[in-house]
Amino acid sequence: MQVSPQTNQFVDVRTCGINPNHWYVVARSTEVRDKPIGVTLWHQAIVLYRDKTGKVHALEDRCPHRQVKLSHGKVIGNELECSYHGWRFNWEGNCVAVPYLASNQKLPNCQICRYPVRELDGFIWLFPGDLDKLDRDSIQPMGVPEWEHLNYIATVSSIECKGHYSFLIENLMDMYHGHLHNDYQAWTSASLKDLNTDEKQVKAHYEAQSYYKIDKIWSISQLFFPAFRRLHPEPLDVSYVYPHWVSTLGKDFKIYCLFCPVNQNYTRAYLIHFTSLNSFWRLHKLPVRFRRYLKNSLFGSAQKLLDGLVRQDVEMIEQEQQAYLNDPGRRTYELNPAIASVQKLICQQAAMGNYQ
Ligand code: FES
Ligand SMILES: [Fe+2]
Repeated sequence: MQVSPQTNQFVDVRTCGINPNHWYVVARSTEVRDKPIGVTLWHQAIVLYRDKTGKVHALEDRCPHRQVKLSHGKVIGNELECSYHGWRFNWEGNCVAVPYLASNQKLPNCQICRYPVRELDGFIWLFPGDLDKLDRDSIQPMGVPEWEHLNYIATVSSIECKGHYSFLIENLMDMYHGHLHNDYQAWTSASLKDLNTDEKQVKAHYEAQSYYKIDKIWSISQLFFPAFRRLHPEPLDVSYVYPHWVSTLGKDFKIYCLFCPVNQNYTRAYLIHFTSLNSFWRLHKLPVRFRRYLKNSLFGSAQKLLDGLVRQDVEMIEQEQQAYLNDPGRRTYELNPAIASVQKLICQQAAMGNYQ
């Protein structure tokens, strides 16, 4: 429970909404091809489609004619065609064609909601909030700069989790749960050394022991063979940069979690793991084409590791959610101060979304 700064009343973090005045990640770029896809962001059904120029658009996933899903339709040129009677809509959500319109009839004056959407660093970012706020410099998609950078190898794991997003971000901010991941041995012996918070983020600095060190080209094999791993101390920094998460383990690893909260009981997210090739200065002298080839061929190197970590975390989070639903008032015990800071930020941001 947290006290709302606006109403001074207790708020249950497990049912908190989102602040819509941020950019959320709703899909990977590769998921939006020639067919429309339906996604849900905090109770809003949204259809994403790519027009013939390759640009991605986002509309309410509801045909205004009979309320069926536009994501079951087709992309025709730059427009989206409903599967039921073939009405077509442009990217602004206006009906622009009805196949059986009589010569004495006008196009129906119906408009569906459109969402600002951007394709950036391999993901589709969507802004579900107040359009007046979009012009503010501070409201930009967080981005993932390592995505295109030739010195980083990426692996992506999708998270589908029957739990409120607060359980997922708390899991990501609480590095004391290395215990759970013993089989995957990413880090161990974490100890929280510093915690900084403001109205936009929570930053937790831990000292930990890492199993990986990528300083020789064959060190990449540590990702596959546990026998090559050696424990050594590394700083472990995790930040909740509302509404997403970023972490670094030493100089070699960076992980992002990009959030798409679906509703109070369901969260989707993308976990992106980057292994750095920064130590290999000889590699950086090679032609860009070769470096890109190397980056692309090594894409997904940490898949087994990442999927394994996600599976273990999701299992715990779903148990937490289930226990909460069975008895929402039951007390839990927490020793990590980072968790209280995360819950406070969630409640503050949700309240800002309601009152801004
Ligand atoms: S329901 Fe979409 S065209 Fe009729
Ligand atoms: Fe974990």
